[in-house]
Amino acid sequence: MNDASPALENLLTETRAFPPSPEFAAQANVTADEYDEAVADRLGFWADRARGLLTWQTPFTTVLDDSRAPRYDWFTDGRLNAAYNAVDRHVEAGNGDRVAILWEGEDGSERRITYAELAAEVARAANAIAGLGIQTGDRVAIYLPMIPEAIVAMLACARIGAPHSVVFGGFSADALHSRILDAQARLVITADGGFRRGAASPLKPAVDDALAKGGTDVEHVLVVRRTGGDVAWTEGRDVWWDDVVPHAPAEHEPVWVEAEHPLFILYTSGTTGKPKGIFHTTGGYLTQCAYTHSAVFDLKPETDVYWCTADIGWVTGHSYVAYGPLVNGATQVVYEGTPDSPHKGRWWEIIQKYGVTIFYTAPTAIRTCMKWGEEIPGGFDLSSLRVLGSVGEPINPEAWMWYRRVIGGDRCPVVDTWWQTETGAIMISPLPGVTATKPGSAQVPLPGISARILDDAGEPVGDGQGGYLAITEPWPAMLRGIWGDERRYAETYWSRFPGRYFAGDGAKYDDDGDIWLLGRVDDVMNVSGHRLSTTEIESALVAHPWVAEAAVVGASDETTGQAVVAFVILRGGDEITDLPTGEDGGEAIVQTLRGHVGQVIGPIAKPRSILVVTELPKTRSGKIMRRLLRDVAENRAVGDVTTLADGGVMDLIQQGLAKG
Ligand code: WTA
Repeated sequence: MNDASPALENLLTETRAFPPSPEFAAQANVTADEYDEAVADRLGFWADRARGLLTWQTPFTTVLDDSRAPRYDWFTDGRLNAAYNAVDRHVEAGNGDRVAILWEGEDGSERRITYAELAAEVARAANAIAGLGIQTGDRVAIYLPMIPEAIVAMLACARIGAPHSVVFGGFSADALHSRILDAQARLVITADGGFRRGAASPLKPAVDDALAKGGTDVEHVLVVRRTGGDVAWTEGRDVWWDDVVPHAPAEHEPVWVEAEHPLFILYTSGTTGKPKGIFHTTGGYLTQCAYTHSAVFDLKPETDVYWCTADIGWVTGHSYVAYGPLVNGATQVVYEGTPDSPHKGRWWEIIQKYGVTIFYTAPTAIRTCMKWGEEIPGGFDLSSLRVLGSVGEPINPEAWMWYRRVIGGDRCPVVDTWWQTETGAIMISPLPGVTATKPGSAQVPLPGISARILDDAGEPVGDGQGGYLAITEPWPAMLRGIWGDERRYAETYWSRFPGRYFAGDGAKYDDDGDIWLLGRVDDVMNVSGHRLSTTEIESALVAHPWVAEAAVVGASDETTGQAVVAFVILRGGDEITDLPTGEDGGEAIVQTLRGHVGQVIGPIAKPRSILVVTELPKTRSGKIMRRLLRDVAENRAVGDVTTLADGGVMDLIQQGLAKG
């Protein structure tokens, strides 16, 4: 087990519980009966949800095909279209005037987009993309800020059955390049830039740099104008969105794809240096997105105003901004910027302005707002809120209580939702009208989901005990694989406990049998709810000419959950002539290396600190003992060193750091 867990032991002494109010329970979308219904007939339960929540062009007769396990296929003989389900059918049902997107730009600009307008825009964009040669099955990379066009672009791809690969705008040109290559994307959709922290931040240059590295299949770059800044232009390749989309016809026949047709690829960090292209398909994914969005947030599409703060570059932005809410016909807020621009009350101001009723964000954001002080949200009217959600990392009880009291006025249920890029949709969470919520626990698998905590040998553990979280039955929104690497899929997720999905998280049952997540048990870090791989950052560091060896650990951090701390050994020898020296030399080296990681992966991966050392602690077999480095990074007494090849190395490291 990962040794981050002892610090989390105290979570299990938490005994407070908050049952839903009788009024909330009485009006809730889901009652406790759904657990029983799903236990009695799990596949029947999901088949009913798939039929009830989605519109199928061809109904399915097969629910689950496990003949190719661990590749599981759902609703295989059905046909549908994701964009039609997200938009058109609401218009056909007479809800075209309902607002789909309440968009707020960081610079204060606003756009209100109804379902009818969204339907027309998606159809135009689909026609425009098809006009650029994109056909069903082609991959499209999307590298956009949080503007309505991001959602339009995703849906336009879905409409023609072209899987999208959204790359977070905070990733570098290098990271974008490797993702474009891996997916063999033929089109990139980007913008001149977006607004962040009051300034225009350019995006198009990273696309130009990525494509200049060569080897890609990209024929066109479709560019949305957002900031109005100057952009370099490649004639014949680059096309302005405004030159093609507004003129394209607003009618487009959706491509009815098989339920198992790939909907998207999304890259996430794993335990190796190479990000994994997690791919999801259409029917099962949409079923579970729609069901969980309705059940976990108790969504009432006619009256609720929903807001999830995630960027579409992450899976939360896929399932709970682009797909779940729209498939359910919700009205949602989409905000372009950061919570502190132009002032630290911006989020609460938005909640007050639009009367947001359901709010979904990450623990790191909650902890940041706690730090800023409760008088900031206290200055806004948050009485419209009725459900609060948390996602991305374990939420500590203190932050949970603050969220409930300060933001939720002690009246809103807080749902802590556990899931992953791989699971596609929420798996473990309280139900707001059913569960007595506990601060810091994700608690129970949702109806239709089977999860167990297993010991080392794969045996289920009992109440009060901990181990590894596993999903024991296939679920509709599950990943269908790692793009282009079936073997890695089977090895990563299905070999640790044969026949069961290994999530990579440690977890414990409390005495009531509720689940508490304890963080990753592998070399994946969670920084501000973003997954980063230690190995990936280590590879980036050793790619720099000054670095001989590097070890990266995730050290606990009060605000970001974990923070990246790197230990590096510099190269000696004559061939390195440009190494900064003198009084400021050390600082110059650190800044250069941080910048280098930012360039290779993206600003989110920049280490919080880089410590230059002369040795790294290794076992006799040469494996770096990250546990000991984490002790150093967290200013703790260094733990057991008996398995080190050279027992004195930790003393050396600490003496060196004390001197530096
Ligand atoms: C962590 C984000 C505790 C976990 C949706 C998981 C959580 C990883 C929670 C997936 C939660 C996510 N409580 N830990 N409620 N939600 N995690 O793929 O370690 O970006 O494996 O998906 O985040 O991160 P990913």
